Amino acid sequence: METLYIKGGRELYGDLEVVTAKNALLPILAGSVIHNGKIVIEKIARFSDVMFMVKILESLGCNVVFQGDSLVIDASGASNFLVKDEFTKKVRSSVFMLGPLLSRFKRARVAYPGGCNIGNRPIDLHIKGLKALNVKIEEKHGYINCDGRDMIAGEVHLDFPSVGATENVMMASVLLKGTTIIYNSAREPEIEDLQNFLNSLGARVYGAGSSTIVIEGVEKLHDSQYCPIKDRIVAGSYLIACAMCGGNIRLNGARKEHNHALIGKLVQSGATIKCDKNSIEIGVKGKLHSIPTIETQPYPGFPTDLQNQILAMQTISKGTSVVIENLYESRFKICSELVRMGADITIKDRMAIVKGVGRLYGASVVASDLRGGAGLVLAGLTAEGYTTVEDIYHIDRGYLSIEEDLCKLNAEIKRCNK
Ligand code: UD1
Repeated sequence: METLYIKGGRELYGDLEVVTAKNALLPILAGSVIHNGKIVIEKIARFSDVMFMVKILESLGCNVVFQGDSLVIDASGASNFLVKDEFTKKVRSSVFMLGPLLSRFKRARVAYPGGCNIGNRPIDLHIKGLKALNVKIEEKHGYINCDGRDMIAGEVHLDFPSVGATENVMMASVLLKGTTIIYNSAREPEIEDLQNFLNSLGARVYGAGSSTIVIEGVEKLHDSQYCPIKDRIVAGSYLIACAMCGGNIRLNGARKEHNHALIGKLVQSGATIKCDKNSIEIGVKGKLHSIPTIETQPYPGFPTDLQNQILAMQTISKGTSVVIENLYESRFKICSELVRMGADITIKDRMAIVKGVGRLYGASVVASDLRGGAGLVLAGLTAEGYTTVEDIYHIDRGYLSIEEDLCKLNAEIKRCNK
């Protein structure tokens, strides 16, 4: 079993190139099955979830080859619309296959996505969205069976702006005759990126980034080469790391417009931020001030995927902070581990009250989910003494090599086999 071993107390300095976004890659890879031809995805980041999605594509009959840092997907041989539970147990994003398979084969049979450590993650909005396109859906024996042979373009009203449901409906409708409109769609940058990817194949999707997306069906797609956006959550995590440790770092490829909510909070804490078109630089001197309220919201609100990291930052800031988690009910698991490091946190339902203690102490802690694990690494970087973080396979799902990235920024952290 691998662990991260961290010596705390070093300031962060230097430049780092941000990786391609996991949450952009997953729907794009899923969507590649729609096209009966060849697609090249550039600058692939081999996150473990991404590698699972590659396995799903192969199981459907796609030919998938890595060429340098590109992935060449030839889906012309795809002949299968079944995604087995051996995959869906491992990666929740397997649910993204519903829309693309319906688009390509008018049928989809996908095993229910497995449980998740951050709480209940239902898929009712995906199902409701696809039903609005006249897909017949039967949920039986752990599988979602979709029959889209009578699918028609139409209007889809999402009760909540779910990222995955928006993406599924977009992908299901690119080849439908007529116009599909998604109201109350999610507005995340990864959705705009999916739109750009689909349009690079000849689809006609408009409006992503706003809450209404219009898809005009086309008859056929064509081969394409596409380079997805960078990972705003990885970038955000390292900006918070620098805020906690002090120093000055520049993240190349990070975009201000994708990290607006976080940048506002970092400035409020006392950090200096400089941005240009393709980078974000943060400089921090002296003590951080607590942020009175941090409340997670769908984009462009504060992202739930950075909540644990900024919560870790509040433990060492001056003052008291109230962190409210609106998206997932079990996203405070990091708190018991932070308390072992000396933090003062009280949890009440979906609210954590964090009293800044100025300094944490190194301890042996366990990651219980992806972003919580990252939050513990950041805590370890700033803590007095040594911290070990166990169960780091959670962290590897969303950070390519967190220790290599942080070492490049002057941290002292290494991966060990326990
Ligand atoms: C995506 C991201 C994930 C991020 C989340 C919220 C990917 C691969 N993952 O996940 O990292 O944390 O957005 O920003 O892009 N919901 C329902 N019914 C549904 C679908 C969702 O009730 O059918 C609820 C969820 O329980 C959750 C909220 O809606 O409370 C947001 O979920 P959603 O936007 O769908 O997130 P994901 O697409 O799963």
